[in-house]
Amino acid sequence: MENRFQKMYQQKLKTPEEVAKYVQSGFICGCPTALGEPTAIVNAVGERAKKGEIEGVYHHAILCVKGGPFLDVTLKGRYDYVSWFTGGVGRKGVQDGDYDYIPNNYSTAPKYWRELMPRLDVFYAEVSPMDKHGYFSCGMAGAEVSAMLERASIVLLDVNDKMPRTFGNNMIHISEVTALCESSRPLLELQNPPLSENDKKIGRMIADLVPNGATFQLGIGGIPNAVGMLLKEKEDLGIHTEMFTDSMVDLIECGAVTNKKKPINKGKTIATLAWGTQKMYDFMDDNPSFEMHPVDYTNNPNVIAQHDNFVSVNACVEVDLFGQVCAESIGTKHYSGSGGQLDFVRGTNLSKGGQGFIAMQSTAKNGTISKIKPILTPGSIVTTGKNEVDYIVTENGVARLKGLTAGKRAQLLISLAAPQFREELTFEAKKMHLMI
Ligand code: COA
Repeated sequence: MENRFQKMYQQKLKTPEEVAKYVQSGFICGCPTALGEPTAIVNAVGERAKKGEIEGVYHHAILCVKGGPFLDVTLKGRYDYVSWFTGGVGRKGVQDGDYDYIPNNYSTAPKYWRELMPRLDVFYAEVSPMDKHGYFSCGMAGAEVSAMLERASIVLLDVNDKMPRTFGNNMIHISEVTALCESSRPLLELQNPPLSENDKKIGRMIADLVPNGATFQLGIGGIPNAVGMLLKEKEDLGIHTEMFTDSMVDLIECGAVTNKKKPINKGKTIATLAWGTQKMYDFMDDNPSFEMHPVDYTNNPNVIAQHDNFVSVNACVEVDLFGQVCAESIGTKHYSGSGGQLDFVRGTNLSKGGQGFIAMQSTAKNGTISKIKPILTPGSIVTTGKNEVDYIVTENGVARLKGLTAGKRAQLLISLAAPQFREELTFEAKKMHLMI
């Protein structure tokens, strides 16, 4: 028998073209991170932009991985992209100056939507099918969902029967929805590239420092992934992370992660976004041991700090001899974003026994460039400041910088550089009057 929620669903069900008509000229639209982008709706909005039916529409997203008409530069001025974290298909356009971006620590994105953005006309999202209580799950994201829902004047959904139904604070009720359409589209997968020997070496050094019972976060890139692969021999680990990854599924399935030593969210894996393979999506679907939460919860340093011995592992582009970390640009060239790096470094700094690892290969471009520099390349963005940084790791070793003198820090950082760069780094350090 059809219940009242199913009746509401039928009343709101439309074609993607009809749903796209809710988007008017000058509207600010926003969607959840990455796989939350509602493909059928943005494509239909794009068609309207192509026909000249709308102009001045902005699409805001943290990390665009699927692509969409807002990336099409021929639609500039009609349907434009604003990036909150650059990667995947959105990167080149930001680097070329075709799209703008909003600098942020990921934990603060919900506050920006609640308090600082002028308005949010449309919140649109790709979601899982409605349950019998009238709820859709945002599946792959918690992130900014609640904040956008609170702020949006219009809510449009693309209901994809292939979207996993995840639990947590990422639900939308049919009563909050303006209109919806239906899709059946496999989720875009992220395949992990094979790990290099250096990734494995760095991963091993970090894994050796992770105590049993620790709760951890792993960031983006080959090195955090290597750490994930190497934690399998540990016991009773917990996951409280920003991005959920395939290596974390392996750790849960092999029994290394139980989440039972966590002081909060006991027994649950907590994340705010996910992108991986179908194996991961199958794991997340309808799984009560996995929850998606808003990013102002997962990445809140005070929440992270409630876990003793918290371990965070993130990657970077370069580090200078003062310990300043750039993780988001190559010189002036914008590469990614701050994401949750500083959020998790701050959280681990507050956690009793916490350890914050920032890791990188010591060189780039086949050994021709040292990623340890006397000073950051001009224009580099400081993602983690010198007073916040804890461990720096390269294939040449591990250095804990907190509490050491500036000279000792520089000396340790030089020892992490590739041998062919150490003499020059020492010379420059002396010129800067660092006491090494
Ligand atoms: N100078 C010049 N080029 C450099 C460089 C340097 N110091 N460091 C890296 N590069 C180049 C690499 O050669 C590579 O180029 P290619 O694509 O042409 O091969 C590219 O930049 C990416 O470097 P790589 O080390 O492979 O990146 P990664 O995939 O391991 O990601 C970050 C590293 C830092 C970009 C990524 O972790 C990130 O975006 N971090 C920011 C936010 C964050 O930490 N979030 C964590 C919470 S989830």
